[in-house]
Amino acid sequence: MSSSSAPSSGRWSLPVEDDWSTPFAEVLLAQLDLRPGLTILDIACGHGIPAFYLAEQVGPTGSVTGIDASRGQIASARTIQRGDLPWLRFECLDMRALPASFPTFQRITGNLSVMFLRPYRFEAMRGLIEHLEPGGQVVLTFPSLGTFDSMWQRIDQEMSRHGLTIERERLAAHVAERPSAAEARGWLERLNMERIAVVERPLEVASGSGQRFLQHPLLRGGFLDDAYECFEDAGLADEVMTRVSMDLESMTPLLAQRCALSGWKPVKE
Ligand SMILES: C[S@@+](CC[C@H](N)C(=O)[O-])C[C@H]1O[C@@H](n2cnc3c(N)ncnc32)[C@H](O)[C@@H]1O
Repeated sequence: MSSSSAPSSGRWSLPVEDDWSTPFAEVLLAQLDLRPGLTILDIACGHGIPAFYLAEQVGPTGSVTGIDASRGQIASARTIQRGDLPWLRFECLDMRALPASFPTFQRITGNLSVMFLRPYRFEAMRGLIEHLEPGGQVVLTFPSLGTFDSMWQRIDQEMSRHGLTIERERLAAHVAERPSAAEARGWLERLNMERIAVVERPLEVASGSGQRFLQHPLLRGGFLDDAYECFEDAGLADEVMTRVSMDLESMTPLLAQRCALSGWKPVKE
């Protein structure tokens, strides 16, 4: 967490070696009005991107609370923290069901968070906004609809070649489940938020072919799993996915859409 990257500042800059969370966090920070003294809730904080950076920026007159549903992630965050930045604390909590007694904050951030608000994303968003102070800003990022479309199309083509109707339907459902930038904007509009801004910034992900593609830590940890889950026959899944992995050229560039969603809660509701 201590190596330098843009935006850089002190000890707790975003880690340059992280080629997924950091590029999304950069889009988040570009939207965020960040100043010393603010109180911030960072949802789906994982092991602290960008909670550590935010805590350093708000300083001791502010506070940052990072929450995550995974005990392991919270334990990692606390290990990294090692008692530093005492105005930053980490708590194991489900962001979709915050207790009514949970405080309100001047900012709510969440890097790579929106997809995990499922299944009732709008209701989960409404619950979060209840913990945003009037006049406060929310900024959340997620890989929006369109992410890795070239890969989904190539997998679909290969499924089609094999005559796999049910698998194709399941794949289409997985892809469609990803929220779009427009859908996310609609949630904030329905919540009467002001100064809504939704940006999408492409991010090219480099991946080798064959096993390097299939075992790519980013793709395997979620995106490719969605494709494998479409099959009941594991052998068939391996055959289809191996063919896909050998045809990297048709999927390049492999682009993710870094979507950042920002809005301000009206001072008077
Ligand atoms: C892709 S990681 C992002 C972590 C960090 N913000 C980053 O940018 O590296 C998503 C995180 O969301 C957490 N998560 C998933 N569902 C959640 C929920 N319902 N409530 C809180 N955290 C959740 C996961 O445990 C995981 O740490």
